[in-house]
Amino acid sequence: GGAGVAWQLSGPRTVGATLRSAARLPEPFTLPGTVPPVLAPERVDAAGDHYRIVQRRAVREILPGYRTEIWGYNGQFPGPTIRATRGRPAIVVHRNELEVPTVTHLHGGHTPAESDGYPTDYLLPVGDAAAMIHDDPQAVVVRGEREYRYPGDQPAATLWYHDHRMDFTGPAVWRGLAGFHLVDDDVDRGLGLPDGERDLPLLLCDRAFDADGQLVYPAADPMGMHGAAVSDDYMQGVQGDVLLVNGVPWPRFPVAAARYRLRWLNASNARVYRLRLDGPHRQAPGFIQIGSDGGLLDRPRHLDAIDIAPGERFDTIVDLTGYRPGDSVTIVNELGDGRTFDVLRLCVDRTESDSSRIPDRLAELERLDPATAVRRRDLHFRMGDMPSMPGHDGGADMKGWLIDGRAFDPSRPDLTARLGEVEIWRLTTNFNHPIHLHLNPFQVLTRNGRAPSATDGGWKDTIHLPASQEAEIAVRFTGYTGRFMLHCHNLEHEDRGMMANVAVTH
Ligand code: C2O
Ligand code: CU
Ligand code: CU
Repeated sequence: GGAGVAWQLSGPRTVGATLRSAARLPEPFTLPGTVPPVLAPERVDAAGDHYRIVQRRAVREILPGYRTEIWGYNGQFPGPTIRATRGRPAIVVHRNELEVPTVTHLHGGHTPAESDGYPTDYLLPVGDAAAMIHDDPQAVVVRGEREYRYPGDQPAATLWYHDHRMDFTGPAVWRGLAGFHLVDDDVDRGLGLPDGERDLPLLLCDRAFDADGQLVYPAADPMGMHGAAVSDDYMQGVQGDVLLVNGVPWPRFPVAAARYRLRWLNASNARVYRLRLDGPHRQAPGFIQIGSDGGLLDRPRHLDAIDIAPGERFDTIVDLTGYRPGDSVTIVNELGDGRTFDVLRLCVDRTESDSSRIPDRLAELERLDPATAVRRRDLHFRMGDMPSMPGHDGGADMKGWLIDGRAFDPSRPDLTARLGEVEIWRLTTNFNHPIHLHLNPFQVLTRNGRAPSATDGGWKDTIHLPASQEAEIAVRFTGYTGRFMLHCHNLEHEDRGMMANVAVTH
């Protein structure tokens, strides 16, 4: 059975239509919440911590009573969490036992180009497969297993890894190829923030399920390479009516009346959330933001709501110390117009001592000085006609998402930047685009010509630009030369052209 399209789950803050599931869905807040297991290194030596991940199909019970086929790192969805330490390389060997090529990217990682998961640096399946491969003479293509080296020379931060295959990132992530990669350091550990069971990485994504409980994705061949038409829903970005937190629909987390560190990751293909706490109003805790994409903020910031777009992370504390057993706090997504969509519930079921603190100063943050910028660039993100590209039979009626009027082409460097130089980029849009940059995070200087918004603080690697907004960001590339990506993190936009090459040189 197919899934219909439900407009009622879309609001002013969503970008398009929502696929409606045909399967029987659980009542919200009935299933227990989980966090993805931490992956133990296979080996630890002078070179670093060595991990091994097998990408394979698996069957999971996501909806009660249904067996859903997923593509998972180690067969899990989300994938296992890697916990890395600043300055210690994490060396991850991926083995591809799927039937399609893959590319693995560490989002937010300060990673040399050869391990960054360039979209055509394919890892072909172990066995034979009818693989859709984009011909790119510069690409390094391997079969079976590939080693990715993450030096870890970056401050503590909530990173994530996910598939990044050219033209097929949307369907691959939708089927499950995403997981956390957390970097720890002495600064973070020394602050006394909630940790252990009170440090919860939360991967948010929306999905839709057919009558057999299988994941629905509206285009098997999203590029229309075989003449298939692409629907408007696909073009805008694929959204579902089931909200999964760490792979569980609308979970409930039993918690103590204590402070919790909630690390939010929006791993959705296209859905943007405005997260808000809805409690018994004994006290309105709000979120205390302590970190952004690139790591800790300089000081904590109180936020009533968090706008989080695909690719973004918000590291927050929610303080439940004033609560009593029996109280609960619900986190909802505000669609706009006063309507909300459930996310998860924290159910206080015990009192426990809590020695954690939230210091007034968190970390030293270097400010990139706009006065030192050597270059200014304007970059426009908009829809347009897709020119025919090698390997794609384009055609005049083929629409795509473009950066400065161009669809992604691996053979064309779009921007050249030099190591160590500060640049200012002005980003403009006519639609919703979460814009993401690889290699180094950036700082938001202005939004719509004014001061950045409350959620733009710290080092960002993804910035959400709602329709017709603009922002200026300061960037500086460090460490590694080579080709890196700038792209929209709406995965359907990314798959339909909205990526550019940044050539970083000496
Ligand atoms: Cu999260 Cu280039 O990706
Ligand atoms: Cu990335
Ligand atoms: Cu976009």
